[in-house]
Amino acid sequence: MSVHIAAKKGEIAKTVLQPGDPLRAKYIADNFMEEVKLVSQTRNIFYYTGLYKGKEISVGASGMGIPSIGIYSFELYTEYEVDTIIRIGTCGAYNTDLKLFDLLNVENSASESTYAKFAWGIEEELLKSQGNVFETINQTAEKLSLNIQPTNIHTSDIFYRKDEDLPAIATKYNCSAVEMEAFALFANAQHLGKNAATILTVSDVIPTREKISADEREKALKPMIELALETALQL
Ligand code: HPA
Repeated sequence: MSVHIAAKKGEIAKTVLQPGDPLRAKYIADNFMEEVKLVSQTRNIFYYTGLYKGKEISVGASGMGIPSIGIYSFELYTEYEVDTIIRIGTCGAYNTDLKLFDLLNVENSASESTYAKFAWGIEEELLKSQGNVFETINQTAEKLSLNIQPTNIHTSDIFYRKDEDLPAIATKYNCSAVEMEAFALFANAQHLGKNAATILTVSDVIPTREKISADEREKALKPMIELALETALQL
């Protein structure tokens, strides 16, 4: 048991899939995994461990934003000996080259956040996905004939803002989309020598205000979930 996760030692697999939303974790456990056990529900952040095609995998939520994923990923890596976390989330596209439902494999995350600096003395504002998972995701997508774009993204602390201009850091690092978690996950993994990747589905296109509807979300996220699970089999 860690401060924010009630699972006992040994109840979490070496590879964890981490959506933002606890109900998304439940959806994955209910629909894609077998012999599933709910191992934590502290704060309604559900963690499940079960089998996918015979391999033990855990799935559990990160919550929203850098502080939340910073806590959960740190405890998973340090208290449960997790080797690899694959974040599976949604993002807003910064330009119309990206379309709703597009899949992105995050190569680097750029952020104005001071999380990496004040947590670990990591001064960089651009952090890489950690270990070989990024490559494994690309290879697995190819095998599954899924289109996925390797890209840099912006991890922002801000969802609502008055200024509609592209944030300077997104221009500086050629970020195609924005979400709110990958930077902290990569920082923790870098500091601890662990593996971390982030796969994103475009859920909104910021310049046109198009959005995936609530009804479409389940269908929209299926390819990303399958890609993450099939990648986990390779690890
Ligand atoms: N901003 C930040 N995070 C997001 C967005 C967004 O527009 N869409 C999905 N996650």
